[in-house]
Amino acid sequence: MERDIKEALEILGRGEGKALDIGTGRGRLATALAEYGYQVVSIDENKEALIRTRGLLEEEGILNDILLIHGDAHNLPFLDETFEVVATYNAMHHMRDYKKVLDEMVRVCKKGGSILISELNEYGKKVVAERHKERGSHHEANISIEDIAKYLKVEYALIGEIKQRERTDIFISKK
Ligand SMILES: C[S@@+](CC[C@H](N)C(=O)[O-])C[C@H]1O[C@@H](n2cnc3c(N)ncnc32)[C@H](O)[C@@H]1O
Repeated sequence: MERDIKEALEILGRGEGKALDIGTGRGRLATALAEYGYQVVSIDENKEALIRTRGLLEEEGILNDILLIHGDAHNLPFLDETFEVVATYNAMHHMRDYKKVLDEMVRVCKKGGSILISELNEYGKKVVAERHKERGSHHEANISIEDIAKYLKVEYALIGEIKQRERTDIFISKK
């Protein structure tokens, strides 16, 4: 488990409920959530990424612990208040409209549930920008964890904690 994911999961703690992971990517956060005891649903809009990650999870023997779903974070295909945990790791800056994604995260999180958001900080952005240049991919938005915390406070009165780590900043709040 990568160090920044471990740090985020230590803040969240172990649990038994349903956790939604937004932006599956390579499935690192989804895997970590499953290891921490959650029943994980992980969603990504990129079918190829999902197929690749399904292969990785199969190799690791944990495919049965994680439900992979193809869909858009701006319009989550779940009923209101479905999940005990709604989490995302280094995916918010790829979103076309991060505020809409935050609206959706709050909507599908149960009352009393946790919202966990890990995002690249300035140093992390520099490191990842180099990798993106090599791959020809890019980031949609230059957002910070403070932007995320401010939006959730103003729109939903959610007061979270921000923990700063080497490459990522972590926001956690109860709904
Ligand atoms: C850097 S990866 C995230 C890393 C991943 N969370 C992990 O733990 O390995 C970003 C992912 O967000 C996905 N993504 C971007 N926009 C999205 C959207 N609107 N809805 C769902 N997934 C999206 C991308 O396809 C990509 O797989």
